Amino acid sequence: MYVSHPIVKGYPLYLFHAPARYDNFFSSMVDKTPLSLPRHIGIIMDGNGRWAASRNLPRVAGHKEGAVAVNRIVTACRERGIKVLTLYAFSLQNWVRPAPEIKALMSLLGHYLKSERRTILDNDIRLTAIGDLDSLPDSPRKALFDLIDESKDNTGMTLCLALSYGGREEIVSAARALAVRAASGELDPAAIDIDVFFSSLQSSDLGPLDLLIRTSGEFRISNFLIWSSAYCELYFFDKMWPDFQPSDLDDALSSFSSRNRRFGGIGK
Ligand code: FPP
Repeated sequence: MYVSHPIVKGYPLYLFHAPARYDNFFSSMVDKTPLSLPRHIGIIMDGNGRWAASRNLPRVAGHKEGAVAVNRIVTACRERGIKVLTLYAFSLQNWVRPAPEIKALMSLLGHYLKSERRTILDNDIRLTAIGDLDSLPDSPRKALFDLIDESKDNTGMTLCLALSYGGREEIVSAARALAVRAASGELDPAAIDIDVFFSSLQSSDLGPLDLLIRTSGEFRISNFLIWSSAYCELYFFDKMWPDFQPSDLDDALSSFSSRNRRFGGIGK
């Protein structure tokens, strides 16, 4: 059973009561110390290939183990009261990879959507996706849209898969849509501000990113949620994605809760 947290409009969201199973996570914290949770976490799940190579396995074995890590981290985020989790599962730039690897990744996606359907529905998770979804092969695309539709009324957590996604391309596409509306006279160019622009982005309903996690020891954003990461906190792990555990997520959450987010101001 999942814990329900007081839903505060905006963030930070404060979690006051921890169920017994989070004892380890909270052991270092004074009882009832408010933990400010990120509302929206994004994860760049990097290092599947290197995880496999270090075990003399084919790259695809790393992606398979990466999908297992996806299962446990989705559940862990749901249990901890995260409201939005966006996973960078396949970038627009990933299409240049060898065809067999792309085929295996797409097939893993389809398999994941089928095998995790019950978990997603039973745990009140709303599935959504961003990216050039029309470019996905028929079978995983259908499985994706079916589950998006089936889970659309769920409110416990939003799980967004970034698939064939590129952050700069998302911005260009929003700019183009606004330009078309301005050219037709429907929109006054002077009315285009941060809010109007943000609402034109495909990812706008996810809200701004609060915490960006990247595994594998790389320090890059790699075209992920460029706009909404403007004020996010960054957390980098040396571990490869298949090794990522709920306890690592807890470390990132603990670090996030100690950050002083100033948004250009002078802070508390
Ligand atoms: C980056 O590691 C990872 C990817 C491009 C794919 C991520 C896919 C998964 C985690 C599994 C399938 C996803 C779902 C949602 C079921 P890399 O291949 O670039 O690793 P490397 O940098 O070590 O080569």
